[in-house]
Amino acid sequence: MYKRYLITSALPYANGPVHIGHLAGVYIPADIYARYLRLRGCDVVFIGGSDEHGVPITIKARRLGVSPQDVVDKYHSLIKDSFERFGITFDIYSRTTSSIHHETASAFFRKLYDEGKFIEQTSEQFYDEEAGQFLADRYIEGTCPRCGCEKAYGDQCESCGSTLSPNELINPKSTISGSIPVLRPTSHWYLPLDRYQDFLEDWILNGHKEWKTNVYGQCKSWLDQGLQPRAVSRDLSWGVPIPVEGAEGKVLYVWFDAPIGYISNTKELLPDTWELYWKDRETKLVHFIGKDNIVFHCIVFPSMLKAHGDYILPDNVPANEFLNLEGRKISTTHNWAIWLHEYLDDLPGKQDVLRYALCANAPETKDNDFTWKDFQTRNNSELVAVLGNFVNRALVLAHKYFNGKVPEVYALTDFDREITVEIPVIRKDVENSIETFKFREALKKVMDLSRLGNKYLADTEPWKLAATDMDRVSTILNISLQITANLSIILEPFLPFTVTKLRRMLNIEALNWDRLGETGLLAEGHQLAVPELLFDKIEDSIIEAQMEKLEASKKSDASAAGSVAPQKETVQFDDFGKMDIRTVTVLAAERVPKTDKLLKLTIDTGIDTRTIVSGIAEFYRPEDIIGKQVCVLLNLAPRKIKGIESQGMILMAKNSSGKMCLVQASEIMDNGTEIG
Ligand code: 2FM
Ligand code: ZN
Repeated sequence: MYKRYLITSALPYANGPVHIGHLAGVYIPADIYARYLRLRGCDVVFIGGSDEHGVPITIKARRLGVSPQDVVDKYHSLIKDSFERFGITFDIYSRTTSSIHHETASAFFRKLYDEGKFIEQTSEQFYDEEAGQFLADRYIEGTCPRCGCEKAYGDQCESCGSTLSPNELINPKSTISGSIPVLRPTSHWYLPLDRYQDFLEDWILNGHKEWKTNVYGQCKSWLDQGLQPRAVSRDLSWGVPIPVEGAEGKVLYVWFDAPIGYISNTKELLPDTWELYWKDRETKLVHFIGKDNIVFHCIVFPSMLKAHGDYILPDNVPANEFLNLEGRKISTTHNWAIWLHEYLDDLPGKQDVLRYALCANAPETKDNDFTWKDFQTRNNSELVAVLGNFVNRALVLAHKYFNGKVPEVYALTDFDREITVEIPVIRKDVENSIETFKFREALKKVMDLSRLGNKYLADTEPWKLAATDMDRVSTILNISLQITANLSIILEPFLPFTVTKLRRMLNIEALNWDRLGETGLLAEGHQLAVPELLFDKIEDSIIEAQMEKLEASKKSDASAAGSVAPQKETVQFDDFGKMDIRTVTVLAAERVPKTDKLLKLTIDTGIDTRTIVSGIAEFYRPEDIIGKQVCVLLNLAPRKIKGIESQGMILMAKNSSGKMCLVQASEIMDNGTEIG
């Protein structure tokens, strides 16, 4: 038994909202584990937070014409709020832009630097002479050497999926200035992972054979290939500055600072005692992550901790595989996801249904698929029909026959004993499953307790005995209510919202895990409260609405589905002739305050000067569009958008992944020239 537990969950990037894949892969298992240990009376610290550095955040900021800090501020609070509303019980949810994190990460680097734990190497990297900065791979665009797509990035071609390096691109161009980048030497610090190869082999391959097969297997494959030094710095202005003289313009690589975020957040939470959690061998450290993070948590971060010397190493890293959605990989770029904040708004009060469905179908050993149909079945056939039904029957019968007071136990039969003796057996099984990170299995066994209750009521049929043997009815209902009280303990790590309801109905306070298995949790004569339904049936219409919502995002992402949008209904020439489409010039452009997508444009139509509000701010900055000649539908009925009257519509082409570009005539024409 450990003296204390330090549980960390991957810090999500604050450049977008969180979705069901995050919840299923990382936060639900971590929360179950933390809640379970707390119920057992253990000393637990559960750390969460946002990962707020890295290149994608700077790219998003540039695209939106805002600062990286604006981007992370927005998503940090959205993510934090989603987790809170799902009942994820972090002891702290902080962020890597905090000053305590900057200080901690900086000091960590400096210690390793001073002790000569890094090597310094110079290499040639692309530099944008116009913008005066080195370019991260994502900031370089060019033609893919594999498929010829002209819009491949320096690290990846999204068209054919190849992983690339920027010097493979044909005709590379900086996405910042559009200029052709040149190669320039730059020096960086590297953590020589090869020096930790022997230690890691011994620690993981010999010392942690109990780790999940997927985790152990990935570590073995990295180690078998032989580890190489990894750069821990980047030429970038967003991040933790490298605390070394002459290193201006360089920051810590995001994967160097992010895991240190676990330490910074513990410090922020427990300024006086944090070291106990990070430096005392009697602490058990467990990292909950997704499979794409394995190398960083099992190889890189432990090497950093080892190099530092003061810290304990993780005892386990129970990484999950990925959750797909309706047969397709969840994708932020293709908007193929169920976003948590949207779920909470669309299906209010149903946090536990999602917690249940995601845990019951968690991608623990292989990638798994979430479908709305399965979600509905889990709710209707398991939560409603098994758990809800049992609890409701026990309570309603107690009200019917005993005015809502816990009835007395008279003589116990062998069958009663057979049933009650099962409760501690289930408890033991659930403990074993949770402690070995098999949360699906644990949940199944938890549900076995409600199945047991249902079976007990079905076999004893107390409603048939009411006329003849009230003593027996009394005993049966007492036992059923004791099972219900046991459920209020065993369900807590999994379905906390349901447990709150259950306790309210049973009129009891929270009970500790060590009471689990007792058959005297409710005293005879204890007054129960009015029963309410634990779960409602989910009708087909709810599921259909969610499927339609997903289908709509599939249509706006035709390429991912391998098709283009189908042709629309035929229109007559007269219909087309009604549309007054003309060339116009954009005289002025500004962002519409408090929106991400809208620009307010002033245009010269050749007839007049007017205002149009257009949803293109994600793709064009105001300065990109001023002076451009574009095409406009002039006679579209005016409408108010965010309080501004928009008089017409700028014509845009929208590609399959939602990217938009302006439609322009192939030559400059007079403003007001008709198109038709
Ligand atoms: O993959 C990710 O979303 C990373 N932001 C996880 C970081 S985990 C830890 F190192 F902070
Ligand atoms: Zn390609």
